[in-house]
Amino acid sequence: MSAPLFSVEGLVKRFGERVLLDDARLELEAGSGYVLTGANGTGKTTLLRVIAGLEPAERGRLAFRAQACAVPEYPEAWRREIVYVHQQPYLFRTSIEKNLDYGLARRGMPRAERAARVREALAWAGLADRREVPPHKLSGGETQRAALARAKVLDPTLLLLDEPTANLDGDARRQVLELVTALCIEKHTVVVASHDPEITRLAILNRLYISDRRIEADD
Ligand SMILES: Nc1ncnc2c1ncn2[C@@H]1O[C@H](COP(=O)(O)OP(=O)(O)O)[C@@H](O)[C@H]1O
Ligand SMILES: [Mg+2]
Repeated sequence: MSAPLFSVEGLVKRFGERVLLDDARLELEAGSGYVLTGANGTGKTTLLRVIAGLEPAERGRLAFRAQACAVPEYPEAWRREIVYVHQQPYLFRTSIEKNLDYGLARRGMPRAERAARVREALAWAGLADRREVPPHKLSGGETQRAALARAKVLDPTLLLLDEPTANLDGDARRQVLELVTALCIEKHTVVVASHDPEITRLAILNRLYISDRRIEADD
């Protein structure tokens, strides 16, 4: 079997006295999709943030492709390829278009290529005619779709989605579900923390859950 794309070994994460993860391990295969469940407060968000290098942990080893590191170390280069989408995404108060362009510009991509990529991602998210709208004028569903488009435009190797449908219902939820499903069947490796039955029952997703401070996988 080939080496996993991303792995976690011996991970210990606590907040003060509260131990969230104890000697936890996880392997993510390239191109696979995963849904992460577990009761509220078990550490799903925290785990995704540790994988994305946004939250330090006490002990453990992370490996991405051929490179390994011991926490709390986190290689800068991984941040370009591992993208986390917050449950309640924060968008800069400019326009949706500029929010999508920002990460590409930081990567030094030429303007014309950026414009084409941004246009494509906006169309994908059904936001083409909303591109100049300032984020505070967006609905919750549009904000989540813009955040998904902002992550997709970066073409991440590993995409981490935190409860993307949690605050949505009706059409807004259905539209976001469609995008999440599309991301899961694309080439990306995706981990979605979610209790949404429409996501947890997607047959293409492998099941992960946090239980007793460990990460369990259903084979
Ligand atoms: N920055 C923090 N400082 C202290 N406690 C935190 C912090 N972030 C999360 N926690 C606590 O860690 C636990 C797990 O949180 P979280 O990872 O958000 O769980 P989940 O996403 O599974 O609901 C919760 O009890 C939460 O209150
Ligand atoms: Mg959470």
